Amino acid sequence: MKLINETALIIGSTSGIGKKLAEIFLKKGCKVAICSRNEKNVNKTLSDFKKEFGDCIIGHVCDVTDPFSLKNIVKKTVDAFGSIRILIANAGISLSYGPFHYLSPEKAYDETKTTIEKI
Ligand SMILES: NC(=O)c1ccc[n+]([C@@H]2O[C@H](COP(=O)([O-])OP(=O)(O)OC[C@H]3O[C@@H](n4cnc5c(N)ncnc54)[C@H](OP(=O)(O)O)[C@@H]3O)[C@@H](O)[C@H]2O)c1
Repeated sequence: MKLINETALIIGSTSGIGKKLAEIFLKKGCKVAICSRNEKNVNKTLSDFKKEFGDCIIGHVCDVTDPFSLKNIVKKTVDAFGSIRILIANAGISLSYGPFHYLSPEKAYDETKTTIEKI
């Protein structure tokens, strides 16, 4: 499958699964925005891919737990590529921790709702 002229934003893409996905999408002809919290990681990933993929890749610092940071990476991706057709939310966030009896659907709902309201 080719992804020529498709656009992807991959959250958490400077190592592991996210970085590999960025490489696969780039090789298929997709334009890819990579991001993570650490600027050094972002720059290293950009330098790993820029030589082969040129303007098809952009990268910025983004912490997905920060709504403003998230809005910023979305804007920068749309500004650069015109759209986001593929979104990969690869940076995992765990809300509840603890023994099984501590967890409940109500608690999970409250925590998720609070997080979404911040956005
Ligand atoms: N590897 C596995 O076997 C496995 C199995 C099941 C599920 N998963 C899930 O798959 C996802 C990726 O796993 P992985 O093994 O590839 O992890 P990884 O190698 O640690 O990569 C995580 C990436 O996400 C970035 N990141 C972390 N927190 C972030 C945040 N708040 N905002 C933006 N970027 C963030 C990291 O860079 P910075 O540190 O620079 O932010 C890094 O680029 C995770 O959600 C993990 O829970 C993995």
